[in-house]
Amino acid sequence: MIKTPRGTKDVLPSESYKWQYLEKKFKEVTDLFNYKELRTPIFESTEVFSRSIGEETDIVNKEMYTFNDRSDSSLTLRPEMTAALVRSAIENSLTNTAGVQRLWYFGPFFRYERPQKGRFRQFHQFGVECLSSPNPDSDVEVLHLADKLIKEIGISEYTLFINSIGNKASREKYNNVLVQYFNENKDKLSENSKERLDKNPLRILDSKSPDDIALLDDAPKISDSLDEESQLHYNQVKEKLTSLGIKFMENHKLVRGLDYYSHTVFEFQSNLLGAQDSFGGGGRYNELFSQLGGKDVPAVGFAMGVERLLIILEESGKFDNIEEQIDLYIVKATKDDSVIYNLISKLRDNGVILNYDLLDKNFKGQFKEANRVNAKWTMIIGDDEISNNKLTIKNMKSGEQSEIDFENILKFNFKD
Ligand code: HAM
Repeated sequence: MIKTPRGTKDVLPSESYKWQYLEKKFKEVTDLFNYKELRTPIFESTEVFSRSIGEETDIVNKEMYTFNDRSDSSLTLRPEMTAALVRSAIENSLTNTAGVQRLWYFGPFFRYERPQKGRFRQFHQFGVECLSSPNPDSDVEVLHLADKLIKEIGISEYTLFINSIGNKASREKYNNVLVQYFNENKDKLSENSKERLDKNPLRILDSKSPDDIALLDDAPKISDSLDEESQLHYNQVKEKLTSLGIKFMENHKLVRGLDYYSHTVFEFQSNLLGAQDSFGGGGRYNELFSQLGGKDVPAVGFAMGVERLLIILEESGKFDNIEEQIDLYIVKATKDDSVIYNLISKLRDNGVILNYDLLDKNFKGQFKEANRVNAKWTMIIGDDEISNNKLTIKNMKSGEQSEIDFENILKFNFKD
């Protein structure tokens, strides 16, 4: 039997309503904030990602699905959206007009990671990006949108962690302090982190190795390296979040796994997820546009893992009592197609969700099918009914049966 590739999965018909539930919420909440959807290709030129996410990150180093096509162009299945969106914004001059661009997206992404609970090789993200504002109000706007969405979809227990990694000057200063500290303690560092020390010391703060964790407790904090501008930005973000009533916790070790961030970084975590406890993350990226060949455009955004949102919702019982129903199942007991199809067409025009037999089942078989598809009502159309100008309808829950004139059928409420 041919199976789905490792780390990918089908969304089966019995589960797709959960995805549709979330997709509807994405649209509703982004509408409230007036964000517009952007769709880009699933693959991009490899340099879109290698020039932005960082050559020394796990994503670029180990996780990209990169291939050469028949004309030898190096292409990559997108591992995330921010870089692709910035490529599109530059190419389509989206930020050349005055004002702020508010964008959102939803779709599949690809990373060659070791699959486990909440971690896939094809996964889906919902995300938003707010372009052109350097203002802390835009950091707070995307966090407000994220927080609103999380609550709207029915997640109540989660923690928002935030940190500031400052502007470029502050990060450079911190890098030096950090390298000095790790060099003084080099013998205690894990092998992995020793390698990172030269290439990307900030990444060490993210380490899960017990050797490093002990060392990290006493490591210098980035907050002590922030210059005045960075400090001001961070303080304003925190004040404005408080004004909105959005709860957060500061985590001075939070640096994120992508290199394009500056100033605010954040993650949403839930303890229903196990090891992969982060269901969303993002931050400001003021230098990404110029890294990808554009003008300087300040921006901020986040993305959430849709599979992880679903795990949280499933484990908190959100979908436990969902019953999928159709309004009506039509039981055919006549060969007079013209009457049946006329009625079916009119009922559908009136918004009645209905099915009928496609397998030439007998009377009993059709009722069985009506139960299987969980119909609220059945309607029998037989030769007797047609000649008497009356239809028999049955409420499948109460079992009650009644007769109704043909001309009144379109007025009947099959929804209750
Ligand atoms: P990220 O933290 O790499 O950020 O991914 C965002 C979310 O995508 C994660 O919190 C997680 O829920 C989900 N995710 C990532 N990898 C996987 C995986 N292998 N399987 C399942 N879910 C996964 C970004 O991608 C940034 N582009 C976010 C951003 C937007 N920053 C600014 N704007």
